[in-house]
Amino acid sequence: MTTLDPWGAVKIDNYSKLFDEFGISKFDDLLARIPNPHRYMRRHVIFGHRSYESVLLAILAGKPFAAMSGFMPSGRAHLGHKMVMEEIIWHQQQGGDAFLAIADMEAHAVREKSWKECRELGINEYILSAIALGFEPGEHGHIYFQSKSANIKDLSFELGIKANFSELSAIYGFNGETNIAHMVSALTQSADILQPQLAEFGGPKPVVIPVGADQDPHIRLTRGLAEKINLFTLFTAYSKGQEAHAHVKIYSKSAPKKAFDAVKMAIDNNTTLSFFEYEGHIDVQCDPSKINETLENVKRITSEVEIKFGGYAFIPPASTYHKFMTGLQGGKMSSSIPESYIALTENPEDGAKKVMRAMTGGRVTLEEQKKLGGEPDKCTVYELLLYHLVEDDNELLEVYKDCVGGTRVCGNCKKHVAELMRGFLKEHQEKRELARERLSEFGF
Ligand code: TRP
Ligand code: SF4
Repeated sequence: MTTLDPWGAVKIDNYSKLFDEFGISKFDDLLARIPNPHRYMRRHVIFGHRSYESVLLAILAGKPFAAMSGFMPSGRAHLGHKMVMEEIIWHQQQGGDAFLAIADMEAHAVREKSWKECRELGINEYILSAIALGFEPGEHGHIYFQSKSANIKDLSFELGIKANFSELSAIYGFNGETNIAHMVSALTQSADILQPQLAEFGGPKPVVIPVGADQDPHIRLTRGLAEKINLFTLFTAYSKGQEAHAHVKIYSKSAPKKAFDAVKMAIDNNTTLSFFEYEGHIDVQCDPSKINETLENVKRITSEVEIKFGGYAFIPPASTYHKFMTGLQGGKMSSSIPESYIALTENPEDGAKKVMRAMTGGRVTLEEQKKLGGEPDKCTVYELLLYHLVEDDNELLEVYKDCVGGTRVCGNCKKHVAELMRGFLKEHQEKRELARERLSEFGF
């Protein structure tokens, strides 16, 4: 018999291309260092990341960091959206700032939703559920509509200076027929992602955007824009020779001369650093064993100077990538196919019925099932347990074992899961009613 793998349903074989071709790193390599990992981390639902180490180091050191995501208010919030909400909330509970954007500009420009509908769907579908799931307001929790945020409008305009049509069309498939507001809403999303690093929110800090794997192009675009808009670019290099040296090279792109001079002065005043000056860049030399320390020092100096001279000094936003849930009938889970999802506002009875109709990994006959066991890796009912309904890993492992061992049969199993789903929906909806009372704490 093959080894038991209770997370088999979230195998990442199909995602290996992402690692090799697009430079996404494996989340597993960081997992052991994460305190109280979320069940999506433990169960490998979150499988990849870009520069999440920046966030992890901040968590471990008790330094500022943030998590942010956005939702287009164009339909019902379902279990897929709940995944993202939970990931943001987990980061807030680890001491981070949480940001949640209601992408009403995008829904208005792209999905032709009226402002009124955006407002209603934003509050009733997304905001109430996020609060019910544990999103906390205050200094460390911000929920906003894009159209109501001057920060977002200003920053997206600014970012627009660094983006051109070819780059955006390569990512989003824009062509000559695409309306301009659609293009603007791509930059609005980048502004959402960078906003937590504005001075108003405490300045540059690591920020993670938890997304599905297909969202990576947006992340890469924003990381690129962040780099382009910054005043300084840093590179590290090594030279061999009689004496090996490491270098941190500082290039000023659009920085005013005064800002570059201020960087030189700060480095000069720092007893541990020395530099050489070249045309267009300066070169801080150090012993190769000191390169990380030196880089951190130089980063701190350029960032401080940049802020003083009115720049942003953005840290490239980090991302984590999660696997998608399968639709309850197999195939994709999608807001446009009601039988494929369970909405967070679904009537609990209807939710339970959807579980009873969901595609299982059961065999054709009961006899066969007892002999061969079920296939939880292919079962959408098992996925509901793995993603949402069972917190305890051992309890989940028991279900897995009983299923592959043939002692658990689908009829009873579905009844059990339907019961859990009914309970979850009922409780969640009660919490949503309590959340309604708290809307004013978020400024709504
Ligand atoms: N564009 C996203 C969507 O289609 C919504 C969104 C807006 C978003 N701003 C964001 C997602 C920032 C992640 C981060 O649903
Ligand atoms: Fe899925 Fe449960 Fe059937 Fe196993 S017993 S295949 S987990 S429904």
